[in-house]
Amino acid sequence: MAENLMDKIVSLCKRRGFIFQGSEIYGGLANTWDYGPYGVELKNNLKRAWWKTNVQERNDILGMDCAILMHPGVWEASGHVHNFFDLKSDCKNCKKRFKSADLKDTAKCPECSGELTKARPFNLMFKTYQGPVEETGNQIHLRPETAQGMFVNFLNILDSRHPKLPFGLAQIGKSFRNEITPGNFTFRTREFEQMEIEYFVKPQDADQALEEWIQLRFDWYLALGMKSQNLRKRQHGKDELAHYAHACMDVEYNFPFGWAELEGVANRSDFDLKQHAQYSGKDLQYYDDTAKEKFYPYIIEPSGGVDRAVLAFLIDAYQEEQVNPSTRLRIDGEQSRTIKEDTRVVLKLNKELAPVKVAIFPLLRNRPEIVELAKKISRDLKKSFAAIYDDTGSIGKLYRRQDEVGTLYCVTVDVQTLEDKQVTVRDRDSMQQVRISIDKLKEYLVNQLS
Ligand code: GAP
Repeated sequence: MAENLMDKIVSLCKRRGFIFQGSEIYGGLANTWDYGPYGVELKNNLKRAWWKTNVQERNDILGMDCAILMHPGVWEASGHVHNFFDLKSDCKNCKKRFKSADLKDTAKCPECSGELTKARPFNLMFKTYQGPVEETGNQIHLRPETAQGMFVNFLNILDSRHPKLPFGLAQIGKSFRNEITPGNFTFRTREFEQMEIEYFVKPQDADQALEEWIQLRFDWYLALGMKSQNLRKRQHGKDELAHYAHACMDVEYNFPFGWAELEGVANRSDFDLKQHAQYSGKDLQYYDDTAKEKFYPYIIEPSGGVDRAVLAFLIDAYQEEQVNPSTRLRIDGEQSRTIKEDTRVVLKLNKELAPVKVAIFPLLRNRPEIVELAKKISRDLKKSFAAIYDDTGSIGKLYRRQDEVGTLYCVTVDVQTLEDKQVTVRDRDSMQQVRISIDKLKEYLVNQLS
């Protein structure tokens, strides 16, 4: 049943244009995914909501957008060259590769019972070369986290913006990890997007800041409509902590394949600033002009995955509803037609996340004056909302399609509209239909969507 839901999500994503297999026409590149027209809107809405809450609505957090390629010294200092490893074993028989942490028996292949090689460390950073010559001196890495770009700009931020503790830096961007076992659709991939905050605090305030941030981040998912029963917090055991972390709490989501990390909130202590100070030779201490002292701030880091959050919101919003076997739709005010709809699939994404807010249809595609009027209404609404025009199916099909992508309102122009200048507006969740005059339509939608 649980697996079934994941299959349904993957299928809906392809069918409706949210997420496609990467390089599909070439047989696909394993575990790469391309976001289609609705997927990119959903993803952008999610990132916009995160940016609004964490950057625009706060006085103490500044946004950044740093380079993916960084000086090799960064990864030496950060510890990623020496510590960012997973242990892997290969099956001598079927040649499959496994992450040691996932194995119950480290000697026997879980798939064919063949003999496994001894566990060997495998660095997760992608290597590439800068410039035309592929030699060791030119080797660089694709960043495995966006965080380091913010640490190495700490001094630039102090000098240009003069923030006082506590303050934070925030960034959204791509990260890359050569994961041994990617999978579960977009849950674990080798190329993914992160939304990270590095919040600098006085060392003595770090524990409290960690508690506050885990709650803030938990509440953010709830505020965007995620069901509370599908969210929980989990404290990391000492043996699970990353090499830089003193403590870490996860926000976990109840995915169809089990509870798993959506976002981590870590206390990175003064590890990163001290390391970069040592490796770069720059003084990265903060000067407290009230206490007249210099020190390395501690860093509290809420770090979430964009792709994972998109996946969790899609799963959370997916609903199959039994509807009235017949839904009566007005065609021209006098006639009526019966549309058979037993089960409808609907994505109950909240107003902020829904990729399309309003869809506009002409009820009759062969009536140019209806089509023209619907197109005109759509052109007007597009100036204010994420709106689409569609006339590529019967009204029943168009509703079904829009329900599946989570469109909040559908506006239909019919024969009667030509006389009374009113359109039918259908609400996604209640499926109630109301007649609204065209000149009040925008105001009506603004009120509904605000
Ligand atoms: N800077 C800290 C950091 O990167 P992390 O727990 O390794 O911490 C943070 O990653 C978040 O990034 C995770 O909670 C997850 O949402 C996302 N993430 C990490 N690895 C991922 C992967 N291979 N595929 C998709 N998302 C990933």
